[in-house]
Amino acid sequence: MLDAQGRATQAVSIKAFINGQWREPEEVSEVRDPYRGDVVALAPVSTARDLDDALDAAYRAKGAMAAMPGYERAAFLRRAADNVTARADEIARAMSLETGKALRDSIFETQRSADTLRLCAEEAVRIQGEHIPMDASAIGAGKIAMVMRFPAGVIAAITPFNAPVNLAAHKLGPAIAAGNSIVLKSSPKAPLCVHLFVEAFVAAGLPAGAVNTVYGDAIAPQLVSDPRVDFVSFTGSTRVGKIIRGTIGMKRVALELGGVGPTFVHSDADLPAAAKACARNAMLLAGQSCISVQNVFVHKPVYETFVAAVQDEVGLLALGDPMDMQTEVGTLIDEQAAVRVEGMIGRAVEAGATLLRGGSRRGAQLDPAILTNVRSDMSVMCDEIFGPAMSLQAYEDIEPLFKSISDSPFGLQCGIFTNSLALALSAIKGVRTGGVIVNGTSRWRSDQMPYGGVKDSGVGREGPKYSIKDMTEERFFVLN
Ligand code: SIN
Repeated sequence: MLDAQGRATQAVSIKAFINGQWREPEEVSEVRDPYRGDVVALAPVSTARDLDDALDAAYRAKGAMAAMPGYERAAFLRRAADNVTARADEIARAMSLETGKALRDSIFETQRSADTLRLCAEEAVRIQGEHIPMDASAIGAGKIAMVMRFPAGVIAAITPFNAPVNLAAHKLGPAIAAGNSIVLKSSPKAPLCVHLFVEAFVAAGLPAGAVNTVYGDAIAPQLVSDPRVDFVSFTGSTRVGKIIRGTIGMKRVALELGGVGPTFVHSDADLPAAAKACARNAMLLAGQSCISVQNVFVHKPVYETFVAAVQDEVGLLALGDPMDMQTEVGTLIDEQAAVRVEGMIGRAVEAGATLLRGGSRRGAQLDPAILTNVRSDMSVMCDEIFGPAMSLQAYEDIEPLFKSISDSPFGLQCGIFTNSLALALSAIKGVRTGGVIVNGTSRWRSDQMPYGGVKDSGVGREGPKYSIKDMTEERFFVLN
């Protein structure tokens, strides 16, 4: 239970939602507040039988969902969004308690999740096909043909801890908007806020089996490989994404994976604005976003000025109790994660990097770190750090950098600060990533946009319109 301040007075028992019913778990796992260490929730550890029942229910609900007209799906999603808005405070507080995310960011994310559902409602009524001009060839002349889109069927969705509610909205919303049923497995590290979100979502009323939830990592391989599943949507690490891709056979898939947040700051940019944006977008959420700023490449003439400015900006960030509305940087998801990031920073320093500030750890909290004198083969630069740490490197010539980033394994999003349209266009054309943010950092996302990566950063795109495209199948017909 949560008290009026949103603190856990006793651990909340989470139930899975299977075939329209809340199910008592046979086994549970503890979910701890990473700041205080208290147990805040008991999450189900779903059994093979739970999973089988969830998949069976989703499979049986396929027909009812495919038959539901778009205006009803849209109305459902609008009601679901209103329900989330009504419970936003409770959901946000649960998120901060179990993940250590600063409460102000949890509130923002929960508001975003309701908006994501509203965007899905709009897209539910504009799923369009295509008229094919058959008179383009002699064999087709005189015929009428079209491509229509049909629901994929059963969606298996797996979501991470870092943006637990909005990323669940990005799976549930498009799945229902497109007329599918879904089995959702959220992260065992952030199950409570997703459970509350799902409660609000399903209270808007859907056929039994349209939405099902299962918990625990052990069942994930069965979930994605089960033949009743038609489409797999996963957000998480590149390592797990590659495993999923290797186990699902011919199923279609959307994988939103890792990145190293490259952001360029050119000498003609608004330097104070760039320094502030880089500092905040590297360190907020304790750096735990796939698009967090990690590697900042700064044009040599302004390097020293920028380094000083970014140091000042990072120094202004308020580190502290995630439940305090003044806090801007909470904890990492757990102490193990903070130890991992601390180790990466330590190894970089041993290999010759300079730690300009931060890097000290207290439990799961890490003082935001800035590194210079880094090399691109150091783990802090070439592996996803997923923590509050930023590496700064000076460049003289930007075009070779565009090429080396394009040739590197990751390709999620990049940012570039410049006042030159020509340079911005050169980045848009020359950097092989899923998105280029001009006069913004790699960590910019608005929920309607196509979001996703290339290379090891994934396949497919999120954003309601784009996920709906992924979660539907094209069927051609011709009238002879
Ligand atoms: C992510 O880390 O992929 C989520 C980014 C976001 O939705 O803000």
